[in-house]
Amino acid sequence: MRIQDLDTPAIVIDLDIMERNLDRVASYSRQHGLRLRPHTKTHKIPALGRKQIELGAVGLTVAKTGEAQVMLAADPPDLLVAYPVIGRAKLERLMQVAERTKVTVAVDNLTSAGELSAAAVKHQREIGILAEIDVGLGRVGVPPGEAVGLCREIQKLPNLNLLGITFYPGHVKRMDEAGLAALRDLGQLLEKLVNDLSRNNIPTEIVSGGSTPALWHGHEVKGMNEIRPGTYIFNDWNTVLTGACTLADCAAAVLTTVVSTPRPGHMIIDGGSKTFLVRPAGHRRRCDIRIFEGSSRRCLSPHERGTRIRGYYSRR
Ligand SMILES: Cc1ncc(COP(=O)(O)O)c(C=O)c1O
Repeated sequence: MRIQDLDTPAIVIDLDIMERNLDRVASYSRQHGLRLRPHTKTHKIPALGRKQIELGAVGLTVAKTGEAQVMLAADPPDLLVAYPVIGRAKLERLMQVAERTKVTVAVDNLTSAGELSAAAVKHQREIGILAEIDVGLGRVGVPPGEAVGLCREIQKLPNLNLLGITFYPGHVKRMDEAGLAALRDLGQLLEKLVNDLSRNNIPTEIVSGGSTPALWHGHEVKGMNEIRPGTYIFNDWNTVLTGACTLADCAAAVLTTVVSTPRPGHMIIDGGSKTFLVRPAGHRRRCDIRIFEGSSRRCLSPHERGTRIRGYYSRR
């Protein structure tokens, strides 16, 4: 098939760049002795999950039960569901996943831990648990001071096997001076937390964190032994802004067609806000597209069904 034959808008992946991204992170984690459990939210494609495992990933991370079911096709040795699993229907499906592979779940409250334990007992499964700690993002997770208490209670529940802790440092977005200082603070917090947990005979076999922005500094975060980057497989403009990659490391692009040139200097492409939906890190505007013309860039705001580009094609 030729690129011109693709129906648009279409997402196109440069496989050479993607493979280079995968290799780079696999060898980085090997070099630093970090477990790599990539988040599959970016690609959601079992064949790519399989590739990540073949390159040395210890397992895969997913955000929900449905994704865990899909990723079974990658034949992963382990699946981490890095978000609370709540409700009977989801727990039943999760137990079906647990019949096929090892399942670990991030837990930050005793209600979900209790329901998970009951489902695991009913299905005679053992589920790995990582206690979720909020290290500053303010999303899920207990404050670090409550970690020991949560872990102690989880340890009392049958068929749950507490393996350590998990956190997501999504609040550290740019690897500038402030970002690096935030990662140093995170390392100190983790060191203290791991000591507290060990003193209380709570396992810390897995201390799982890491994001794409913080990727190349993972080995400097004391106490963390597992990283879960997701975006790195393709990278994006946000990743470029964080300093974790360059534009040349971005593997994904959206192919669009010019559908109208209503007047001189204007063209409309068939990719709009639903195609490009992004909010660049640190930017308030809901939706931006940048056009790269040599070293200059322009920012456009797409509409739902398309994007008007002014003063562009006429100059070519
Ligand atoms: C819990 C968790 N872990 C890992 C990741 C992957 O981070 P990134 O998108 O920076 O690659 C995410 C992303 O949302 C996440 O929510």
